[in-house]
Amino acid sequence: MKPLVLTGVLSLLALTLPAAAQERVSVTVDATKPGAKIDRRIFGQFAEHLGSGIYEGVWVGKDSAIPNTRGIRNDVVAALKAIKVPVVRWPGGCFADEYHWRRGIGPERKAMMNANWGGVIEPNTFGTDEFMDFASQVGAEAYISVNVGSGTVGEAAEWLEYMTSSAENGIGAERAKNGHPEPYKVPFVGLGNESWDCGGAMTPDFYVSQMKMYARFVRNYNKAQPMQRIAVGPNGGDTAYTEAVMKSYKGRSWAWDIEGLSLHYYTTGGGFPLTQKSTGFGEKEYAVILQDTLKMDELIKTHSAIMDKYDPEKKVSLVVDEWGAWYVATPGTDPGFLKQQNTQRDAVLSALNLNIFARHADRVRMANIAQMVNVLQAMILTDKDKMLLTPTYHVFRMYVPFQDATFIPVTLNAGTYSFGDIRLPRVDALAARGTDGKIYLSLTNLDPKTPVDIDVASLNFKVKTATGETLSAATFDAYNTFAAPATIAPKAVTAKMADGKVMVRLSPASVTVLTLHP
Ligand code: AHR
Repeated sequence: MKPLVLTGVLSLLALTLPAAAQERVSVTVDATKPGAKIDRRIFGQFAEHLGSGIYEGVWVGKDSAIPNTRGIRNDVVAALKAIKVPVVRWPGGCFADEYHWRRGIGPERKAMMNANWGGVIEPNTFGTDEFMDFASQVGAEAYISVNVGSGTVGEAAEWLEYMTSSAENGIGAERAKNGHPEPYKVPFVGLGNESWDCGGAMTPDFYVSQMKMYARFVRNYNKAQPMQRIAVGPNGGDTAYTEAVMKSYKGRSWAWDIEGLSLHYYTTGGGFPLTQKSTGFGEKEYAVILQDTLKMDELIKTHSAIMDKYDPEKKVSLVVDEWGAWYVATPGTDPGFLKQQNTQRDAVLSALNLNIFARHADRVRMANIAQMVNVLQAMILTDKDKMLLTPTYHVFRMYVPFQDATFIPVTLNAGTYSFGDIRLPRVDALAARGTDGKIYLSLTNLDPKTPVDIDVASLNFKVKTATGETLSAATFDAYNTFAAPATIAPKAVTAKMADGKVMVRLSPASVTVLTLHP
């Protein structure tokens, strides 16, 4: 097919713009070279028993005045359904390696201390059956992290038996008695969490020997649903676990296997102890955080290269099952509850990461942002019966067409946004052909002060109109509050067309998703 290249033109509007804004960015979408499928699971969530992430955020109890279905908040479920949450990782996090599932089933729940997060009492009211109910209400798959740190292989094996075996089986019968005769589907099991740190501070070799036993004995009995086992992998740039786990994978015997390797990387803008605030920051902090978050690309490349060495066929997925911004906790809240606000900066940050995952779709097949409700870079914040959607939520909603879409390469002269010594690309872009056959283009303006004019060239297909939504804010540190929950919300946008060219102006620090209509 004959390639059609649309190039940039200057609009009359440019005459009124500041000089920097007149440097147009030309984007070329090459639909002739489709890439890998962007697994919908890169839009996955992580929900830990931490702060008000589960209790209040998801679970209010059957007798609550807050509208609920079997104890689970209706407003939160509806909001999560709207972003088509593909998968939820639960129950942790560090919590998972101290979780004993039997305390959270049946009529008698046994409370425990949540030693990791605030030392509060964990009532275990929200247990396996409640989580599965929640996942099913949302329409998400379950990703269960089993306890490798303080549990036993037998305990984890019996948990999977409880969830996945038939009601005729002894432990399956317990589940049936607890109200769910049908076996649950468990497509993903995490074999520990951060075993290099809160999960037991294990050396890579020690972890590998543990992991093999869990991979062998933690079985799935539900034939209707294959299960993938995800081993603990790297902490940021540390390659020791990647090497050890992948080397053992290459030498695996018939007796065990894994299908995924986990990567954790948080954007902190300076590491721990935390220094960056979630609100009330300046342009320097804006730039520091975006610079830090873009390291995700290098990390994925580093670990993918090691994985390629041991698994050139890319059978093992890289699963970024904890990522996102981690700031100083909101003043006045328990620091152990990891509560933080979510600004327009976080919207930009999330788009940049989702774009990175999509560009590595051949290896990254799941990612789980930390965390879904009320914790870290949340989709949703709740306050008693009130709920607000964060800018990050809106990006996830705008990106729904990218779920299971086919990656399309994009080239652009992004230019540079700089602040002090920090130099970042001014614009980032992602294109894909959706499962509906349409072409979608996401454009992110990283520059927090200056708009950018874009023209879009498309190879091999002629664009007649381009419509979509844009997420911008009056300031890059703006956020939604319970008093003003719609301060930041997507607005409809129709790109200008000139001689078949798509022309759009991106506001400072904004995310725009367009459908390119033929
Ligand atoms: O998401 C908060 C914590 O961060 C998780 O419990 C742990 O896995 C990570 O260190």
